[in-house]
Amino acid sequence: MATVQLVTKVWIAPGCIVCDACETTAPSVFEVKHDDGTCIIRPAALDAEFTKPLSNDIVQAAEECPVDVIKFETIDVPAEQAPAAVTASAAAPTETQAEPHAPSPSAEAASAAAPAKASPHKPATKPKEAAKSMDPAVAALIAAATVRGGAAGILRAAGDVPPAVKGIQKLSPDKLPPDARYAKVLEKSKPPKPEEKTRRDWMVRVGWIAMGVGVGGPSLLGFQRFMMPNVLEEPDPKVRCGPLAKFTGMQPGDVNEDFKNTGRFWIVREEDRLSAVSIVCTHLGCIPSWLPNDRKFKCPCHGSGFKQNGVNFEGPAPRPLERFKIGIEGGEVVVDRSKKFLAMGPNDTAVWNDPEASIPV
Ligand code: SF4
Ligand code: FES
Repeated sequence: MATVQLVTKVWIAPGCIVCDACETTAPSVFEVKHDDGTCIIRPAALDAEFTKPLSNDIVQAAEECPVDVIKFETIDVPAEQAPAAVTASAAAPTETQAEPHAPSPSAEAASAAAPAKASPHKPATKPKEAAKSMDPAVAALIAAATVRGGAAGILRAAGDVPPAVKGIQKLSPDKLPPDARYAKVLEKSKPPKPEEKTRRDWMVRVGWIAMGVGVGGPSLLGFQRFMMPNVLEEPDPKVRCGPLAKFTGMQPGDVNEDFKNTGRFWIVREEDRLSAVSIVCTHLGCIPSWLPNDRKFKCPCHGSGFKQNGVNFEGPAPRPLERFKIGIEGGEVVVDRSKKFLAMGPNDTAVWNDPEASIPV
């Protein structure tokens, strides 16, 4: 019985060089973000039912990707049950379909499991062929950016940054490999840590004083008094979330998103406790979405999935979502983002038993 392969999951590994090829081939699946220096999977394409009819385009995009960072998973279905869009191209091969092409790793694994299967996929256009005739200097630059960006991403995710990668991180944004540049942009978008804010305020203040002295003006004492207020304005790491009664109506498995934008956390109700779960993906820092029907958080960047309690179970994220200190103060639920509880792997969640990591309900 003839079968075809349908794509049920697609994601992008670190190392994208923002070449636009995938968005051109499958615009409803891939979105190139030039400002962020990366490419993401559109939220709709995180659903298997959405990707199945687009299997041909996704496989073609993966084959066209010059740095092989588009990954996907497939299932085999009888040809008569496959979407028409997939079987149509299989039934009408073109001249170029006869050409061999290198499948991506997951496609390779799938075809190894079923070697006699007819491929339903459209042929790859051959950007990699074109790359062979590319200026060697440009090709070397792309290769270096890819390897360094991908390695940097993986090492950052593992929390182990050796000196060579630190060197990359010191480069100005326009000189960074795209993946590292993306991570830097995300890093900058996070609220500053209190000590960073203090240091930065101090440097800004010194700069103003130097300018004031340089241009003269009123007496130095008066100027200093004007430029150096006695009180430092620090962002308050504590977020007051309202009375406990506001959350006691939540059922086990519920997620409250009221503080996603203002506090960068979700309030999550587990069987016996309330927790404040960080909204930052532990892979490269994108913001996952809560998908209530699937009972999971899904990251749009590279497809990581987290259970309702924040435990990672699919995609490249190396560990669960972080949790913030949470407690009751004056009858109110208060989340303190200055203290985090980090589980270092899906099976390392004992840290969440710390009394400050949740409120018993
Ligand atoms: S994922 Fe690949 S094809 Fe898409 S923009 Fe990045 S490098 Fe280009
Ligand atoms: S940032 Fe890569 S999966 Fe979330």
